[in-house]
Formats: sequence, C-alpha cells, structure tokens
Amino acid sequence: MKRIGVLTSGGDAPGMNAAIRAVVRHSIFNGVEVYGIKKGYQGLINADFVKMDLGSVGDIIHRGGTILRTARSEEFKTEEGIAKAIKNLKDYGIEGLVVIGGDGSFRGAYELSKRGIAAIGVPGTIDNDIPYTEYTIGFDTAVNTVVEAVNKIRDTATSHERTFIVEVMGRESGNIALYAGVASGAENILVPEIPYDINEVCKKIMNGYKRGKLHSIIILAEGAGHSFDVGKKIHEITGLETRIIVLGHVQRGGTPTAFDRIMASRMGAKAVELLIKGETAKMVGYSRGEIVITDLEKIKEKKKTFNMELYELANILSI
Ligand code: F6P
Repeated sequence: MKRIGVLTSGGDAPGMNAAIRAVVRHSIFNGVEVYGIKKGYQGLINADFVKMDLGSVGDIIHRGGTILRTARSEEFKTEEGIAKAIKNLKDYGIEGLVVIGGDGSFRGAYELSKRGIAAIGVPGTIDNDIPYTEYTIGFDTAVNTVVEAVNKIRDTATSHERTFIVEVMGRESGNIALYAGVASGAENILVPEIPYDINEVCKKIMNGYKRGKLHSIIILAEGAGHSFDVGKKIHEITGLETRIIVLGHVQRGGTPTAFDRIMASRMGAKAVELLIKGETAKMVGYSRGEIVITDLEKIKEKKKTFNMELYELANILSI
C-alpha cells in the first residue's frame, strides 16, 4: 500500500482531529503517502483531495471539529456517485481509505470495499451508538459537556426549586443521556431503549421534593420524546414549575478530553496498520481495554447493547 486517503463523514465529533493526526503520522512513519479528502464522501466525488504532511496535522490534537470538514452526501448513495468516487481514487493512485464517522459512513466504506478500494472504519460520533465497540470518538467529551451544563443548571434549579428537563443528543441511542445522567446525579434518565411511564417519573419527582430535595433534573435523550411535551405533561400532573433546556450542538463542539484524544490516536493508528497489512472492510473498535476489529458487514446487522446495569444503578442512586 503506497498511498491512502482519510476522510471524516457524518456529524463531527471532538477527537476527529486527533484521529486524522494519527492516520497521517502513522502512515508517513511507515512510508505511506496520505491524502486528506475534504467534506466526506462529497469530497471523494468532487476530487477535493489535499496531500497531507507531518506539519499539516500539527497543532490540531486539542481542537474540536474536523480540519477535513464533514458532510452527509446524498450523491454518494447513488451508483453514479460511487463510480465517480472510485474513478477519482484510482486517478490519484489511492488504494486504501480510512473513514472516520458513524454507522452511515461505514455503509459507504463497505460499498467502496466491495468495489476494490480497501476501506477501514474508525468510529467517530458523539452518540456512541455503534455495535461491536464500547466506545466511539467524541462520546467522552460530549458527556462531559452535558455534565458541565447540568452542574450550572443545578445551581439555578436549586435556587428556584424548579424541575428542569435537559434534552441531550444521541439520535436513537440513550447513551449520552445515561452516562451524563449518572455522572450528574440526575433524578430521572429517559432513554429510547427503555419505555417509561410519565406518572412514575412524576411520582419520583414528588417523592424527592417530599424528602427535602430542592430541585429535580431530568435528562431526556432526544430519541425518547420531545422535552417540551415532557415538561408540559409533568406540569399538568404535578403542578410543578418546569423549565426546558435543549443542549443541541454545543455537545458536538469543544476541545476533546484526554480520553477521546488517546482513543482517537490508538484507533487512527490501528486503521493504518490494517490497511498496510492488506485488510479491508473492517471497523476498529474498543472493548475491555483492547482495540478490537470487526467486519464492517456485521455492523448493520446489530443494534448496540444498552448498558442495563448502569441504568439500574442510576435508578437506585437517584431514589
Ligand atoms: O450523530 C450525531 C448527532 O449530533 C446526533 O446526536 C443528532 O441527532 C444529529 O447528529 C444532529 O444532526 P445535524 O447536525 O445534522 O442536525
């Protein structure tokens, strides 16, 4: 393998830059040339390629976002789009590709691998919703961002003895809500994986107030309902004053945590190692402290397992 490409695709995530840096530097260390592909798969179609050198990834390990930019390309979902991308890769002599993104991005990588371009996926999404890996780059930073926000919300919630509903991202996954909920001591964590009864949620809030709590924080995953509906319902049932916070894209930005940078460095380097070994259609993942490798084909077959043990613990600790 003489020349590879790297792209980021889908929603950006803190730590993507650290992953790009690892891909570029590990490749150059091994005598492999690297091209950065701008704006995800759309950049493949438009031949938006830039030669990377050691300096081009300097001073980025601590930066959020992605220096390569990112996009969600509709054109790449068509046969014509894929054909254009493959032609461009061949014209540039790029034999392998590292795709940093979520499960949608991995479907693209798999399509390319079926057509003779070696492709390795590195999980980069704040959602931590990809199966066969306990971790995705950006998740730790996003969870910490939510926790910091809840710390602040808690101050004002206590002063006014209010109930706050904090809506967090995650698409169909409740992982950001679960981990941020545990870390911030939320009274209720509502996730799409576990159906909830709003009357039980209200009962728990009222019990809290009865035993002297001065506020109540509910972390709601975006996939589990709309915060304004939940807030209205709680007000109707309990008469309590509620306030809604939708944290939104603030969760996608910011300097990555040390953990995200380290995971990104390990995963990015591993992806290059796999390409050099002649591997394709694989995802680099993380399980029980180790880097693990999974066939890309398997990713779409399974939904990520929800951490029930942590969810149950959260319920016990928030009685
Ligand atoms: O996948 C990352 C994510 O931030 C999700 O949590 C969220 O649902 C979605 O992207 C938002 O997408 P967009 O930035 O296109 O609005």
